[in-house]
Amino acid sequence: MKQWNYQFVPNQQILKDKINGSYKVGNLIYDANIYDAMNTDLADLPFYKRWLPTNQDARILELCCGTGRLTIPMAMDGYNISGVDYTASMLESAKIKASAEGLDIEFFEADIRTLDLPSKYDLIFIPFNSIHHLYKNEDLFKAFKGVKSHLKEGGLFLLDCFNPSIQFIVEGEKEQKEIARYTTDDGRNVVIKQAMKYESKTQINRIEWHYFINGQFDSIQNLDMRLFFPQELDSYLKWTGFTIIQKFGGFDEQAFTDHSEKQIFVCR
Ligand SMILES: C[S@@+](CC[C@H](N)C(=O)[O-])C[C@H]1O[C@@H](n2cnc3c(N)ncnc32)[C@H](O)[C@@H]1O
Repeated sequence: MKQWNYQFVPNQQILKDKINGSYKVGNLIYDANIYDAMNTDLADLPFYKRWLPTNQDARILELCCGTGRLTIPMAMDGYNISGVDYTASMLESAKIKASAEGLDIEFFEADIRTLDLPSKYDLIFIPFNSIHHLYKNEDLFKAFKGVKSHLKEGGLFLLDCFNPSIQFIVEGEKEQKEIARYTTDDGRNVVIKQAMKYESKTQINRIEWHYFINGQFDSIQNLDMRLFFPQELDSYLKWTGFTIIQKFGGFDEQAFTDHSEKQIFVCR
C-alpha cells in the first residue's frame, strides 16, 4: 500500500469549539496519521466511484473531505474534484498527499454549514458518517441548503450515515470494547477501546475512545455523534428540496432494511 510521507502535526484546535461547547470531538480523532491508519480499504470508495458522472469534465465536490482518503483516488482517476473540511490539520495532510501525486486539487477550509464557494458542481457528496457531526437540526438544514445552492441543475447529492441500532447502543453501554488495533505510518501502535452513553433527548451518542499508544494509556477522546433515524432523515432531505432516487443499506447497494447498518442516499 502507498505510504504517505507527512509528519505528525498535533492538532491543537479542539473541534468542539467550532461547534458548541456541549458537543465534543477530541483532537486525536482527527489526527491525520491516526485517522488514516485506522481507515484503510473501506468499501465506500468503489460505491462513490460508481456514481461519479461518466463525463470526467464534470465537477465534483466532497464535503468533509478530511485527509482526502476518497478525494485523492478520485482525482487520480482524472476527475475534477474539490474538497471542503474545517479541520486544518486534516486538510494539510490531504494537500501533501495531492502534491506528492502531482494532483492539483482545490481544497477549501470551510464549515459546511456556511458554504459559500465560487462554483457549482455536478455531484456533491458527504461521505463516511460525517453528518453525525451536525448536532442540531439547524446545522443539518444549513448544510443541506448549502449543498442545494452549490449543485448544478439536475446534479446528484450522495451521503452516508449509520442506521441507528438500539441493540448496538444497549450492548455498547454495557461495557468497553476494543474496536481497533493498528500501527500508524509514523510508527505508533494504537489500541482503541470504545465506551458510549446515548442521550435520547438530543439523539446524541456520547462515544468515548480510550486510546492506548505504544502500550500506554494515552487519553480519552470524545466522539459525539448525532443519530438520524431513517424516517426523519428521509423527511429532512425532502423538506430541503431533494428527491431520494435510491436509499441503500450498504455500499454493495443492498436494499435498506431493518437490519441495515448504513443509510446511503442518492438524491437529486
Ligand atoms: C469521518 S471524517 C471523514 C473524512 C473523509 N471524508 C473520509 O471519508 O475519510 C469527518 C470529517 O468531517 C469534518 N467535519 C465535521 N464537521 C464539519 C463541518 N461542519 N464543516 C466542515 N468539515 C466538518 C471533520 O473535520 C472530519 O475531517
